[in-house]
Amino acid sequence: MNDKFIIKGLAGKKTLNGKIKVNGSKNAILPLMASCVLFKDGLKMKNIPNLEDVKRMSELLNFLGFQTHFKNDSFDIDMSKDIKSILPEDISKRMRASIIMIGPMLGRLKQVSFLHPGGCVIGARPIDIFIKGFQKMGATLSEKNGFYTLSAKNGLRGAEIFFNLQSVTATESFIMAAVLAKGKTVLKNCAMEPEIVDLVTFLKSCGAKIKGEGTPTIEIIGGKMLSSGKKVYKAIPDRIETGSFLLLGLLACDNLEITNCNPVDIESLTTPLLDAGFKFQIHKDKIVIKDNSKIQNSKLNTFNIKTHEHPGFPTDLQAPATVLLTQLKGEAHVHETIFEGRLNYTEDLVKMGANINMWDANRVTVKGPNSLRGKELWGPDIRAGLAFILAAIVAKGQSIINNVYYIDRGYERIEERLSSIGVDIKRVSD
Ligand code: EPZ
Repeated sequence: MNDKFIIKGLAGKKTLNGKIKVNGSKNAILPLMASCVLFKDGLKMKNIPNLEDVKRMSELLNFLGFQTHFKNDSFDIDMSKDIKSILPEDISKRMRASIIMIGPMLGRLKQVSFLHPGGCVIGARPIDIFIKGFQKMGATLSEKNGFYTLSAKNGLRGAEIFFNLQSVTATESFIMAAVLAKGKTVLKNCAMEPEIVDLVTFLKSCGAKIKGEGTPTIEIIGGKMLSSGKKVYKAIPDRIETGSFLLLGLLACDNLEITNCNPVDIESLTTPLLDAGFKFQIHKDKIVIKDNSKIQNSKLNTFNIKTHEHPGFPTDLQAPATVLLTQLKGEAHVHETIFEGRLNYTEDLVKMGANINMWDANRVTVKGPNSLRGKELWGPDIRAGLAFILAAIVAKGQSIINNVYYIDRGYERIEERLSSIGVDIKRVSD
């Protein structure tokens, strides 16, 4: 739990070379694992990375009564007859995504109890959308000793629900609840992330009646349990890993091939990078960076970032991209519109030598280029942790990054994969 990374920086040189394969998407896999509650039979999944969050979700399913088997990149979940209706406190506290379980559990068990979920410290992370929406589907809410209980003794009924914010996990949780609700559910102002489309594609292949995925309005005709049959779910590539490795490539690689990815999912990042003057080839399932050391980042014009729900600029790439902005020429504005706590990491980049001004919890200005110096850092969340790795690689001298558990939540064996392209990174366990 107290591992740290020790990284020797390249002082702005672009000397890394090699290939990195993108893993299956954490944020597609977690809702897919949660969907096992909807099935009469088990679930078989592949292209599943060995991430801390996948392990937590597996432990959560075991706690509920499901048998899970993780071998290489395959993950099987055996059906369970009697399932507990309470989410375990310790896992819920460590992983916000546990909230996805509420919908399918309420739909199947007619009752679910849970603590306010934890996870990354990137803002308040309220759950009002979940509570109000499930009440519209016929559930009643009670609270005792900090535990919420939603119950619908006659089962959930279809409803028309307008989400006051586009929430990824709320969209996923309600889609799954509606699969077992009686009648038709219409969800409006839905999130449109590729992970939601991937979840629905698999559920439809197993008998769910859903349409509109990837658009703001999704209709579900509910009623019966699903059957996976012999189908095996293959996780889509992780678009946040893809963007993170592209940024690493442009910051510190001469040649880098990013394989097994879906570049179309990160057009909101590749477009401003190409406009800024970076050179890389985009193929159907890979991105190729070549002779990048010929490009001086300090000569390229910077660009503004405004995070937005998909297909806009992903909030999960805001921190890694801001590290690149510290190396480009000019003044860039970064506006984090999704989470109020997601710019705090910039204070540490300033300690490393970046020129960043914070105007309020949602806005900073980055002036570049500025060289960075190695420092000891404490990663506050998954994505800021990755951003610190990028900053440490760019910096002059040695950096120590603590709280590696957060990085392991979202990036499998990251130090091995970075070492394979020439990064001087070591994991040290306390
Ligand atoms: C998902 O989180 C992702 N997690 C996050 O990735 C990602 O940053 C986020 O979507 C935004 O893209 C998973 O998919 C497992 P939201 P989620 O509900 O669904 C507010 C990572 O690093 N809100 O879309 O929890 C909320 O406060 C993680 O992989 C309410 O107000 O995020 C936020 O401001 C971090 N009330 C906004 O909605 C609610 O009831 C969007 O959050 C629910 C959410």
